[in-house]
Amino acid sequence: MPIQSLVEVDRNHLIHPVVSYRAHEARGVTVLDSAECVFLRDIEGNRLLDAFSGLWCVNTGYGHASIVEAAAKQMAKLPYATGYFHFGSEPAIELAAKLVEVAPASLQHAYFTLGGSDAVDSALRFIMHYYATGRPSKKHFIALQRGYHGSFLIGAGLTALPAFHRNFDLPLATQHHIPSPYAYRNNYADDVTLIAASVQALEAKVAELGAEHVAAFFCEPIQGSGGVIVPPVGWLKAMREAYRKFDILFVADEMITGFGRTGPLFASQGEGVEPDLMTIAKGLTAGYAPMGAVLMSDAVYQGIADGGDASAAIGHGYTYSAHPVSAAIGLEVMRLYHEGGLLANGQARAPRFAQGLDALLAHPLVGDSRHRGLLGALELVADKDSKRGFDASLKLPDRIAAAAYRNGLVFRAFGDNILGFAPALCCTEANFDMMFERLAKPFDDVLAQGEVRAALKGGSGFGSRVAA
Ligand SMILES: Cc1ncc(COP(=O)(O)O)c(C=O)c1O
Repeated sequence: MPIQSLVEVDRNHLIHPVVSYRAHEARGVTVLDSAECVFLRDIEGNRLLDAFSGLWCVNTGYGHASIVEAAAKQMAKLPYATGYFHFGSEPAIELAAKLVEVAPASLQHAYFTLGGSDAVDSALRFIMHYYATGRPSKKHFIALQRGYHGSFLIGAGLTALPAFHRNFDLPLATQHHIPSPYAYRNNYADDVTLIAASVQALEAKVAELGAEHVAAFFCEPIQGSGGVIVPPVGWLKAMREAYRKFDILFVADEMITGFGRTGPLFASQGEGVEPDLMTIAKGLTAGYAPMGAVLMSDAVYQGIADGGDASAAIGHGYTYSAHPVSAAIGLEVMRLYHEGGLLANGQARAPRFAQGLDALLAHPLVGDSRHRGLLGALELVADKDSKRGFDASLKLPDRIAAAAYRNGLVFRAFGDNILGFAPALCCTEANFDMMFERLAKPFDDVLAQGEVRAALKGGSGFGSRVAA
């Protein structure tokens, strides 16, 4: 189909996720056509370095022949196998075992979903089932402000981003949020004080609700969609221990932080944290096919299995749970992380990534650079002293992202003056050199725009230029 027809047909028929429908109609779709390694090609032939791994998922990079081969082989052999009626398939069983082997030791069982949002909702349903026998008053859930836990009907209430609540009657009365560990936007004296404040906020919330009413705490070890909020090392462990004290389940939502994104296979492992449940997706199949999972402790599994009438079916399942093609892909992706050296490469490249982001702190538009592993963000400010952001109407992140696209680079522009980066674990030093070279010009181009200079403290910009 010619490009113009694609744009027109898209406008008329394809509904896109998390956009203003009217804004999308006015802008039109950008059609991606092909990809190899860390480069995307759009339908007009532009070659773009993807510094966001699709949607923080293509951790392996694009075009891995061995993944395509694993999928094709499984499609030819057994393209579908239901998990209902006690059926199963070899790749799904093997992937469950593999995940249990490599995940924190507390996690012994895996339930496969189609992606992240349904993994979160599955975890919520499992937890409700777990408590239904013996402690039915435990119905309340706590999560973090700025957290993202998907857009399913219940999980979207744990998400704490306004767009996911508006017109959806969320959050539910049983869903609560405590402050995010957002160091840049709080004036904590040091990391210890920040961690103590988080634990205190949690204790206050539990006291308010009564521990006997609280079922679980959900958190991302590093908050992704809320703007890549990187808490200090020690925060996750402190929160985990605080919840253990209250007999409240601790759920690590490692959708983004899993599969080497922050260095170790899972961020929880980097801090010696053993969650009761973990939700995963994205890097599990590196985006080559949809799949997510809930990993759960043996105690939770046994509690559900024996709860009430042990002969009754647990009424939770999907047609495509444990899909054999996705599972075969997952197995090959897991091999690439370990035997294929991806995990080690991601760890080796992290200092270059950090250095490239930190160098941009010298730019007049950048107030904060934060990162762990290959997950990072830059926060844009109009005034570095007061940390005042730019007015949303200026759409500064979108301006920089559009200029970067023209310069052959893709990353994520968040609405609130934050740019997100999550390059693939296969990136080379040369890829990073190119990424930061391609990022420098858009910052300068946008700084040269009159209304941007006018919005900066002092009204004219500082005249400095970016260090690549
Ligand atoms: C932490 C977290 N939880 C849940 C989800 C939802 O996953 P999905 O988009 O696959 O439904 C995401 C997606 O970005 C996520 O980052």
